[in-house]
Amino acid sequence: MTEHHPKKNEAWSGRFTEPIAELVKRYTGSIGFDQRLALVDIEGSLAHAEMLHHVGLISAADLAAIEAGMAQIREDVRAGRIVWSEELEDVHMNIERRLTELIGEAGKRLHTGRSRNDQVATDIRLWLRGAIDEIGAALTTLQRALLDLAAAHAETILPGFTHLQVAQPVTYGHHLLAYVEMFSRDAERLADCRKRVNRLPLGAAALAGTTFPIDRERVARRLGFDGVCRNSLDAVADRDFAVEFVAACALVMTHISRFSEEIVLWMSPQFGFIDLADRYCTGSSIMPQKKNPDVAELARGKSGRVFGHLMALLTILKGQPLAYNKDNQEDKEPLFDSVDTVLATLRIFAEMVPGIHVHHEAMRAAALKGFATATDLADYLVRAGVAFRDAHETVARAVLLCVERGIDLTDLSLPELQSLSGHIQADVYAVLSLEGSVAARSHIGATAPMRVRAEIAWHRARLDAASEAGPKS
Ligand code: ARG
Repeated sequence: MTEHHPKKNEAWSGRFTEPIAELVKRYTGSIGFDQRLALVDIEGSLAHAEMLHHVGLISAADLAAIEAGMAQIREDVRAGRIVWSEELEDVHMNIERRLTELIGEAGKRLHTGRSRNDQVATDIRLWLRGAIDEIGAALTTLQRALLDLAAAHAETILPGFTHLQVAQPVTYGHHLLAYVEMFSRDAERLADCRKRVNRLPLGAAALAGTTFPIDRERVARRLGFDGVCRNSLDAVADRDFAVEFVAACALVMTHISRFSEEIVLWMSPQFGFIDLADRYCTGSSIMPQKKNPDVAELARGKSGRVFGHLMALLTILKGQPLAYNKDNQEDKEPLFDSVDTVLATLRIFAEMVPGIHVHHEAMRAAALKGFATATDLADYLVRAGVAFRDAHETVARAVLLCVERGIDLTDLSLPELQSLSGHIQADVYAVLSLEGSVAARSHIGATAPMRVRAEIAWHRARLDAASEAGPKS
């Protein structure tokens, strides 16, 4: 049993009589992807080592050696100088081995009172916390870009749609503010999820805790966690926070996808509402006339990856008995890819939004076409004392008349309108105008230009206050 086999993993091979099969090693190894955790793994180890010394489990000399060794490894990771070894399975054992190569005996004492199970759970939480803060910042930048565009179009009128049929006129600024609402909810959801990410599993060890007199609160404070996970079994088994996070990402991508769909639709000549700066579009290798909104299409498509990751994480968790199981190693790639996809998408959209060029005339013409102010006429009759249902009926007859004659409501003469309802006066034409229609909707949440400007100011103040408060840890 003491025979040294070069292919053995020294962290656990003592109990084995033959080396691991080559295919198994490749199948079970995670170093190919979990090397992304290297810097947070080092951070976690340093906090653990400091605590071990504080409670008297390792000497000051050991701690100093660990700190010096880890500083060296951190440099090497940053400079891309580390050669990761598949023999060593994962990032945790790669780093521990490197540490021991550098500092000898002290490196072997680091793993006292911990397990890779609580170590990896700690690493993911640290990593994810950083990712959440980056996504939060990207959401803020995108919201600011949308607010700037909304400010430029507080008075620009286009048809609002329901069932993709012209419904009522709205301002483009108001339309853009709807997306600001969505992305602000996304930011709220992530901030809430961060509270549950930001708890320390370390100290749970393999699953039952440890016999050593550790100080978990101390480690939590040092790593900027809000508190410790209070049940060791749950601490190593829990990945709920990852599910929540990817669910929040799935909603971010849903919102991006809806916005993308409108960009694609509105850029088509059939709508002709907007155009995108050339640098955000691509051409066709066969059709010389094409200018395609590829970024929006791709973002719409990429939402599928993140939805898939959410399903993957739920499935990874659902059949696992407590506590840690190797299944959990499968949490990393979905998490990493969700973060990469969401960040890249938010960043490109924040850049692309100012490049949206608006065709006012096309928007206006479309709003004039579909009887968009029919509801305004009904409301006018209601103000004159007609019951809403009767007013609705009268206006429906007016629309039918227009459809038959191929004209718009404003093309009906006053006597024609009055033949439909005795309550109609010459002032009716003001409510039939697009400007009159949007300006009349000025309460909180509605589309009037003055309300859009007020909302933009409100959102800007909200974002300013949030960035002054800064990141939480
Ligand atoms: N690479 C593993 C993971 O990602 C680390 C924990 C392994 N623990 C174990 N007992 N095999 O989950």
